Amino acid sequence: MESLAAAGVRVRALDPASPSGEGILCFSDIDAELYRFLHEASHNHDERILAIPLSGLVIESSQAWGLLHAGASDVLTWTSAPDIADRVKARFEQWQAVNALLASPSIQTNLIGVSPAWRSTLRQIVEVAHFTDASVLLIGESGTGKELIARLIHEIDSRSPNHEFVILDCTTIVSELSGSEFFGHERGAFTGAVAARDGAFALADGGTLFLDEVGELPMALQAQLLRVVQEGTYKRVGSNTWHRTAFRLVCATNKDLRQAIEEGEFRNDLYFRIASWVFRVPPLRERREDIMPLARHFLRTFRPDIAPADFAPPVCEFLLNRSYPGNVRDLRQLIARISSRHVGGGSITVGDIPEDERPSEGIKSSWRNADFERCIRHAVSSGAGLKDISQAAADMAMRVVARDPAPQPQDVGHTEVVAQDGFQVAAPEPEVAAPAAPPAVRRARTTTTPTTTAKPPAKAKAEPKAKAEAKPKAAAKPKAEAKTTPAKKTTTTKKAKS
Ligand SMILES: Nc1ncnc2c1ncn2[C@@H]1O[C@H](COP(=O)(O)OP(=O)(O)OP(=O)(O)O)[C@@H](O)[C@H]1O
Ligand SMILES: [Mg+2]
Repeated sequence: MESLAAAGVRVRALDPASPSGEGILCFSDIDAELYRFLHEASHNHDERILAIPLSGLVIESSQAWGLLHAGASDVLTWTSAPDIADRVKARFEQWQAVNALLASPSIQTNLIGVSPAWRSTLRQIVEVAHFTDASVLLIGESGTGKELIARLIHEIDSRSPNHEFVILDCTTIVSELSGSEFFGHERGAFTGAVAARDGAFALADGGTLFLDEVGELPMALQAQLLRVVQEGTYKRVGSNTWHRTAFRLVCATNKDLRQAIEEGEFRNDLYFRIASWVFRVPPLRERREDIMPLARHFLRTFRPDIAPADFAPPVCEFLLNRSYPGNVRDLRQLIARISSRHVGGGSITVGDIPEDERPSEGIKSSWRNADFERCIRHAVSSGAGLKDISQAAADMAMRVVARDPAPQPQDVGHTEVVAQDGFQVAAPEPEVAAPAAPPAVRRARTTTTPTTTAKPPAKAKAEPKAKAEAKPKAAAKPKAEAKTTPAKKTTTTKKAKS
């Protein structure tokens, strides 16, 4: 604990009832209770926790994997207290920089989503975008937000700003003319080349080249692209001079490229060049918690004049139960239609839903729908008991209420949470107190500001809704202030879909 303090890492007791960022978990043996605690404290991988075995405990590799699966973000091996403290600090600094980016206005106001699936994907993408210049492949169904994410990767790239974001839509590339699209050409290189022109490789130099629908790239062009990506050099059509270029490559597809490779339609060697990092953007049906925040975001966008109008409960129910084959784009278009029908002040009401959208017999089930049944089925088949399921549902409701600022229809009730002894990321206000004597299994949450805060002992009660709302998730305020880069230039050769 002293080494952590010396490294500038502030520690406070864990309060499992409030989601509050990163933590450390120190332990002297590994048992089922530890895994269960890790699962709870990490809120099922939603919060990052470093697992640190105390001196003398040797971890087998199966245990290290077990800790990761239970919710740890990493498992350190014990060396010495000062060394561990330095390693904890380095990781926390990086995580906090990522948190600051995630909390920045450019992400909060453009990339909407509260679901664990969305938050986890976005967090990984932000980390790669900001701390590396590696290529990124985004896979996902149509309308899930791949282009939006590609733009984000460009925006938060830590290389020098003001370079271009160049979009090439591979579905519109014609093989014979593509040389020019990619490489540019000299004047007179071919019929119609009345002037010299830069291609995508030149325009993206220092910036980002976004190849949309990369699975549609013709084979001949795949070979040419591979060369440029590997060597960073190209020649304009009609020229013998080599030019250098360096860009980050971001590709998107809704095709299964592995299968395309097996079928001989996509080059294996190109795949490994474009896919240093692969992220799957989840479809909306896998993150239904995002439906209402997205719907409200689109409502504010389309009808700023009626803000802060919300959706009446039956409309919420309709939106939550509808299927969205076109994902977020589908929802966006639906909200555009609904909001354009709304006249006067007040909430959006059922009459605003276009006729062809209305459910013929009303909505039979509310939140106890097929999704709900699937979750319960999964929990039961994973061996969870009724008590665990009720507790998990109550915890989840508390977290949702704490995160989603939207009006909640009903109080979620009073819940008791059994807390483990431990420590947690310090609250914003620096109460100075000594932590409890470390038990055999010591769990800690930390942050990198020099204060220590003690938290209540082992058993804690979750606060009722009103209090939980008044205490939202502590916004990370790392030293590296949220980097809201100035708007960068964009060059596009594709037509907008939405
Ligand atoms: N998380 C989000 N927050 C706000 N708007 C979003 C989000 N995700 C997607 N959108 C909006 O949904 C629409 C579709 O997004 P986008 O074009 O990025 O999807 P895509 O995955 O590239 O689709 P396609 O595969 O059809 O090209 C856009 O209007 C975009 O702004
Ligand atoms: Mg797209």
